[in-house]
Amino acid sequence: MTPLPTDPRALDAAARAALGSELYAYVAGAAEDEATLAANAAAWTALRLRPRVLRDVDEIDTRTDALGAALAGPIGVAPMGMQLSAHPEGATATVRGAAAAGALAVIPMYGAGSATKAAAAAPDDAVLWLQVYMLADRERTLASVQRCVAAGYRAVVLTVDVARPGNRPAEVRQQVMEIDPGTGRPVDPSQLFDRALTPDDVARIAERCGVPLLVKGVLRGDDAVACIDAGAAGVVVSNHGGRQLDGALASADALAEIVPAVAGRGAVWVDGGVRRGRHVLSALALGAGGVLVGRPAFWGLALGGADGVAQVLGTLRDELERAMALCGVRRLDEVDRDLLAAST
Ligand SMILES: Cc1cc2nc3c(=O)[nH]c(=O)nc-3n(C[C@H](O)[C@H](O)[C@H](O)COP(=O)(O)O)c2cc1C
Repeated sequence: MTPLPTDPRALDAAARAALGSELYAYVAGAAEDEATLAANAAAWTALRLRPRVLRDVDEIDTRTDALGAALAGPIGVAPMGMQLSAHPEGATATVRGAAAAGALAVIPMYGAGSATKAAAAAPDDAVLWLQVYMLADRERTLASVQRCVAAGYRAVVLTVDVARPGNRPAEVRQQVMEIDPGTGRPVDPSQLFDRALTPDDVARIAERCGVPLLVKGVLRGDDAVACIDAGAAGVVVSNHGGRQLDGALASADALAEIVPAVAGRGAVWVDGGVRRGRHVLSALALGAGGVLVGRPAFWGLALGGADGVAQVLGTLRDELERAMALCGVRRLDEVDRDLLAAST
């Protein structure tokens, strides 16, 4: 296929031209005034790197791992519904593209095509995590989780920032409804999601998963500690790409609070507005284990299927490698807070 634009704005423009305006608006958009969407981007942009020079950066190594599974770089695809609207293969193309790029794929249990089929189509070295919304019928949710885990997912990501649907444009939300996994018919997710979750439930779910559990949608140090205390293996620092609570703080700012609070007791990944390799490097300097990328991966999927996803992730890793070289960093274990200017 023809190469996709490597500039994120040009990629966005290509997706806007290729997708219908309604689907584009649904994916690109966020809640209410989109203040948090803008804050995510602004917070990464505001971070300033303190490059080291004269460090022999002839060889750069971006390899790392996700809960022990080898990756070519600290990068993954964020869980997103609607993937079948982007491409007929949906999540199956996403897992193939991510695996080709040596990246993590976080696949939603609902809304992106069959998660078990996607896992079955993945190569052996694919690193797959399963994203789950807890439904009011917890037993049914957990039974589905266990089926997916048996199909090859190495971790479960429980998303907890959906106690109510985000206040996104109603006319779009009406048309873009989730599928009830029981009936196969579209339903309003707010009717189904369990709104009563507490850290005790995190503990119960963690016991039942059979693989490590991460909690996604955490924006405070105390909440991250509560998740780890309850038995979670880690957290994904996220404001859902600005799609839930508008006015929530930027994920980069939350990351800076959460990493010291977790104090190495669990994995900390982050998503929201990561568009450039230097953003990945800044996230790692703040202590993240890796980043997830949402909308750009959706654009890659829409424009080029598995290959498009691989290209978007490959571009990000190339940029990370360049940023590392220009910062005098050869390996990711050399990245720490010292790489960021104190004022940031
Ligand atoms: C179209 C779309 C669908 C999404 N669906 C889900 C989902 O099903 N589960 C979930 O945990 N997060 C979902 N998210 C949020 C992403 O996982 C992620 O937090 C966010 O997109 C990251 O921000 P970014 O798009 O700026 O990279 C969705 C985001 C988008 C754009």
